[in-house]
Amino acid sequence: MNKDSATSNHLFDASTLPFSQACKNNKQPILEVLQKELKDSLHVLEIGSGTGQHSVYFAPRLTHLTWQTSDVLAHHAIINAWHTAYPAPNLYAPMAFDLAVDSLPMSLASNQPYDVVFTANTLHIISWSLVQKLFELVGNALPINGKLIIYGPFNENGDYTSVGNQQFDISLQQRDPKSGIRHLEDIIALANTHMLKLSDKYAMPANNQLLVFQKIR
Ligand SMILES: C[S@@+](CC[C@H](N)C(=O)[O-])C[C@H]1O[C@@H](n2cnc3c(N)ncnc32)[C@H](O)[C@@H]1O
Repeated sequence: MNKDSATSNHLFDASTLPFSQACKNNKQPILEVLQKELKDSLHVLEIGSGTGQHSVYFAPRLTHLTWQTSDVLAHHAIINAWHTAYPAPNLYAPMAFDLAVDSLPMSLASNQPYDVVFTANTLHIISWSLVQKLFELVGNALPINGKLIIYGPFNENGDYTSVGNQQFDISLQQRDPKSGIRHLEDIIALANTHMLKLSDKYAMPANNQLLVFQKIR
């Protein structure tokens, strides 16, 4: 358990929470990009919040915006437990959101579409048809200049970017043949069909990347 991740609610025993080591490792490098990319943003929807560890780290460090977590229902108890341990006024309880069935919600804070959608380590978990659905939903919902920010591993030039990513991809596909590391070129082409243009690409630790797409019209 990372005790420095946010302001802890000491009435709650945070040491028992389900924990992702990857989130602990990547939260600060991701935050540093978000602080730059989201300085003019207002309302963020996170898709696939997982444990909620990212949200409790980012929200108190991005106090000018609201951070709405979401995931399939099975993750809500864990996310709520992290939020109880590390509350923040701009951090919103998880919304039930399943890419397979739901449309993109409006911001609870503004009753307007979110101006940012953030998702970490989801594109290699969901099927390609759900990746397509994600871009369709986000492309339709984002206002002009709104941002879609995606963190995770990607292949480039038709190949893995590291042996570690290759091994990870093999293990993903053994578990679920529909999952797997996506090709950056496919993602950019898909984004373009939904008026989402790659505006920045950041190399991140452990052979991950952070992609920033902006809605152009
Ligand atoms: C590898 S976890 C990543 C969690 C977290 N974002 C992180 O970086 O640690 C993938 C997440 O995608 C979510 N997910 C899988 N299928 C989904 C779907 N159909 N709709 C929404 N989220 C989904 C899972 O529930 C899980 O939280």
